[in-house]
Amino acid sequence: MSNAYFDSISKYAEADWLTAVESLAPSVHEVDRAAVQIWFRFYPLDLERYLAAAENPEEAMRGLALQGDFGLADKIDTSHRFLYGHRYWPQAKAAIEARAASGEQFGDIASEIKAVAKTVADAAKANESLTLSIAAAGLYTLAHVGLDAFKAASGIAAKPAGIMAKSPDAIVAERAKDDSQGMFGFLKTVDKKFSVIRDEYTGGRFPVINEEDVASASQKDHSQDWQSMDDRCWDGPVPIECTSASCGTCWVGVLGGAEKLTEPSARERKQMKVFGYNQPDDAKPYLRLACQAKATGNVTIVIPPWNAVFGKKVRGNVEDVELEPATTSAKRLRSVVQDAISSNLSLIHI
Ligand code: FES
Repeated sequence: MSNAYFDSISKYAEADWLTAVESLAPSVHEVDRAAVQIWFRFYPLDLERYLAAAENPEEAMRGLALQGDFGLADKIDTSHRFLYGHRYWPQAKAAIEARAASGEQFGDIASEIKAVAKTVADAAKANESLTLSIAAAGLYTLAHVGLDAFKAASGIAAKPAGIMAKSPDAIVAERAKDDSQGMFGFLKTVDKKFSVIRDEYTGGRFPVINEEDVASASQKDHSQDWQSMDDRCWDGPVPIECTSASCGTCWVGVLGGAEKLTEPSARERKQMKVFGYNQPDDAKPYLRLACQAKATGNVTIVIPPWNAVFGKKVRGNVEDVELEPATTSAKRLRSVVQDAISSNLSLIHI
């Protein structure tokens, strides 16, 4: 369907969206300030358009070692569940559809996000600092999926539960807290134990020992059949493969406690670029490789539903010879990565 609003939204590139979201960050409530940046990085428009333009998308995905469930088409109502603003999704979807139906052109990105956030805030009787994130995610979703698919989605939001049912300030405080170390906890050093919270709706978490990396801690959690939920989770709730920053499988968003993770090494930063994950250069960035980030307190993470190696092909910002082969055990996953490596021999040394 041709629509002036959608036609003008689609001319913007991923970088334009990220610049707009960055400019609005100071106005976003802390509860969603990192979350909305993470959400945008989980759904890269550049990759979506690269795959859409491919003659054979399946082959293109294999060439990028893409695993899991990429894209927004089947997650229009659910991808932003980890945002506090998700609860305002019905109002946000209605506001965006109304703007599209008005026949007006989409203005600049930041102004459009603010306009939708204001409509949502008025409708939900909420503060605009809490509606900016879902307004931004909703508009970017429209840019990804097109107007017909956007309108066809149900517009139903998940009911807040668990930690997510608390007030925004209480959620921020909850994320800052560490597990009690008991009466003599002040005497403990290396034997301190903390939690990695992986789902704020269910309270799902796994223990992590002081200075243990998040992936190793996840590997000890056999409380559920993780692989039945996500084929990549063959050894714990966090998908892993190489455990050496070589494959990009274990990337996670850090919703809370980024300051309680060790700083990323130069290698982790370089590899993030190779994988294509658009990591900001901050000392405590939004995205981490779980196999590299060591916890020194409670940390709240969100796990993306896919992983890939697309920095070179899609972003074009990676020097040759950066990708190293996966080195370890998960044989089936390894073969997927190896296929991608062998189709990109100009990039690597084996
Ligand atoms: S498991 Fe391969 S990069 Fe972390």
